[in-house]
Amino acid sequence: MKEEKMEKMSRREFLVGTGGFAAGAAVGAVLGGGVFNLLPAAAAEATYPYPYVKLDPEKVRKYGYELYYQGGCMYGAASAIIKALAEEVGAPFSSFPVDMFKYGAGGVAGWGTICGTVNGAAAVINLVAPKPEAFPMISELLGWYSETPLPSKKLDAIAKFQDQAQSVATTPLCHSSVSNWCEASGQKESSPQRLDRCAKLTGDVAAKAVELLNAWKDGKFAPVYKVPAETAKCMGCHVGKDSMLNNSFGKMNCTSCHDDHTK
Ligand code: HEC
Ligand code: HEC
Repeated sequence: MKEEKMEKMSRREFLVGTGGFAAGAAVGAVLGGGVFNLLPAAAAEATYPYPYVKLDPEKVRKYGYELYYQGGCMYGAASAIIKALAEEVGAPFSSFPVDMFKYGAGGVAGWGTICGTVNGAAAVINLVAPKPEAFPMISELLGWYSETPLPSKKLDAIAKFQDQAQSVATTPLCHSSVSNWCEASGQKESSPQRLDRCAKLTGDVAAKAVELLNAWKDGKFAPVYKVPAETAKCMGCHVGKDSMLNNSFGKMNCTSCHDDHTK
């Protein structure tokens, strides 16, 4: 009888889950959880925020790279972290509908707005940390993404292309990120090289998010990103209620798109 019930619940988890990995991890949670009777309720209404346990950034980097090829950049970054969490804690991560993250591909449905890798990683940060704690981490991730030469070489051992050109996105936008990389590498946007570059970025960003979350979990998260002085100058007149004009918004590097009219 008990076994039959267990089988039913496993099946339920299978139905709720979306990826193969989710189903496997869910069964693991059901069998090994020791909270057998609590599981149906937990699965039905998982309480927010979801529990975070420290993860291995290198494992998540590899998952991100691989999952990019299954569902794109946002899907890859979000589901890499969720997959690793599902392996550690099972539910509620094991039944998370990770397919919802596919909308973010190409900077949201191909529009080249926010890079899907940071969008996906940010979503998971806010899944495990409520807004007041999530925002500084997400801001740190976007700042790091904007200024760091990417992709790293850390995935070269499993990548299709090694030692690729690195570029700095200057903003968290897919548009500037991809365009600057095409410029730096001389590759076409539609090339397999560009896909592999974005697969590596997916891993790099997911790993960075895990580093931030691990530090936060230890109570040691400390933001290091600072808005560049030139942008801070623009913001002083244009952004914020205490600014002279208070007619603009954001922390992106203003001069990557506008001329500096004060010069
Ligand atoms: C000392 C204050 C001040 C600073 C600093 C400043 N702006 Fe302005 N900005 C202005 C004023 C005043 C206008 C004209 C506003 C108007 O006509 O409504 C303006 C207009 C603009 C406009 C509207 C189009 C144009 O060129 O007139 C843009 C875009 C702009 N600023 C971007 C920037 C950027 C980017 C920076 C930083 C590199 C910057 N601003 C720094 C005061 C400032
Ligand atoms: C990714 C590119 C990008 C970045 C980065 C950016 N802007 Fe803009 N900004 C635009 C675009 C596009 C418009 C709309 C221009 C239009 O419609 O003509 C705009 C419009 C503006 C305007 C109104 C323009 C006008 O003619 O009055 C201001 C002021 C402005 N931005 C200030 C800033 C400031 C300050 C920053 C930095 C905090 C910034 N922008 C960063 C792309 C950008």
